[in-house]
Amino acid sequence: MTGPGREKNKKLWGGRFSGSSSDITERLSASIDFDRRLYRHDIRGSIAHAEMLNRIGILNNEELDSIVRGLIEIEAEIDGGIFVFSSSLEDIHMNIESSLTERIGEAGKKLHTARSRNDQIALDMRLYLRDETEEIKKLLRGLIELITEMAGSNIDAVMPGYTHLQVAQPVRFSHHILAYCWMFMRDMGRLLSAGEACMGLPLGSGALAGVNYDSDREYLKTRLGFSRVIPNSMDAVSDRDFILDFLYFASVLGMHLSRLCEEIVLWSTTEFAYIRLADNVTTGSSIMPQKRNPDLAELIRGKSGRLFGNLFSLFTVLKGLPMTYNRDMQEDKESLFDSVDTVKLSLEGICEMLSSVELNKERMRESIYKNFSTATDLADYLARKGVPFRKSHEITGEIVRHCEEKKLDFFRLTLDELRGFSDVFAEDAVEVLSPAASTERKKSSGSTSTEEIGKQLKHIRKWLDEMDSSPGTDS
Ligand code: ARG
Repeated sequence: MTGPGREKNKKLWGGRFSGSSSDITERLSASIDFDRRLYRHDIRGSIAHAEMLNRIGILNNEELDSIVRGLIEIEAEIDGGIFVFSSSLEDIHMNIESSLTERIGEAGKKLHTARSRNDQIALDMRLYLRDETEEIKKLLRGLIELITEMAGSNIDAVMPGYTHLQVAQPVRFSHHILAYCWMFMRDMGRLLSAGEACMGLPLGSGALAGVNYDSDREYLKTRLGFSRVIPNSMDAVSDRDFILDFLYFASVLGMHLSRLCEEIVLWSTTEFAYIRLADNVTTGSSIMPQKRNPDLAELIRGKSGRLFGNLFSLFTVLKGLPMTYNRDMQEDKESLFDSVDTVKLSLEGICEMLSSVELNKERMRESIYKNFSTATDLADYLARKGVPFRKSHEITGEIVRHCEEKKLDFFRLTLDELRGFSDVFAEDAVEVLSPAASTERKKSSGSTSTEEIGKQLKHIRKWLDEMDSSPGTDS
């Protein structure tokens, strides 16, 4: 018999009750449909707890052995999809404990000594998030590396940089996408700090006040790979900041991904046509045969909404809760699980999409010959020759207006035409109008010149190497 058996509906807390729960109480209480995903972490925590109970003399060796064997068996059954969960046993903790007792008898009933579901769930959630943080770290690192490679191999591509979505100044494509690398590197910092927030051990806090046993929390800490023991039992069972930290990380990352996706959508339009996405990441229309839609980018952009929603949902759940554990806290799970899944899916999706991007460098180059993209360079030319910048700005503005009125090509103005506006213009002025050379005139650190982009690439590659050599949050 697998899973909770004949007594499967018997509540583990049933002693003081004479009546049974109503159907709606059971339906509202049950979290097993979603918290079952914590089973590995719950079992890992229970094994460590049982070992600790053995060390302080509460479980003898045989009891410990049968508990560990029973838990391993349960884990294998859940892994194999044959474990039968019962929603009247509410949650993952009681499903596992009830099944354990059914398998091994009395010893199973001793497992919950010196423990409450309150410190148990606080433990499971931290263990779970520590593992997921490691997974997401790898995916995010992969994205940063991918963008770095794209930037490194397309250094020749020059495109318009925009403000207000109007052509502003020429920039290198590499510079543009490296801006996202920096965003994602900051996201990594937030992820690591969310991971760090999970490194305090709550187990041993009991329901709220601590337990009437000399629990060896140092042993539990080391055994479960935590870096510290949470010093206040009330804080330990009621703190969900570590989840908020993750949800905030996920929201900021989602916002960055959404901005990048917006650019992908824009750049892949016929009007922009700076990039082409491969067939495997575009979708067709059921009515318009010609369509190749960037659905993946739109979906990732859209999914940022649920990431923000999950953060606010948990904020709202927590904001009015008095100390310590309140059942409202059960509502932390779906938000977290959804954000974890959404972040992983989005990161995989964006990597697949970016790997498929083909750049249309010619089209990008054409576009820099628009909207007077080198007007600032021309104003700076005059300023360098001693004309105060405000004055040179005005002269250049007049040249732009003149070109608009007379339908002249700004980029092909002759020296004579320029001198009609200021006799400071000399032979070298014509060259300044060329958008192709504009990026290389940028001298400031962090600018879009090839040299400065080279420095960024070096910095980011070093950062990637250091990430590889630094230990994870999990040991
Ligand atoms: N399923 C519960 C949760 O997720 C576990 C803790 C229940 N504790 C309690 N006292 N009812 O929060």
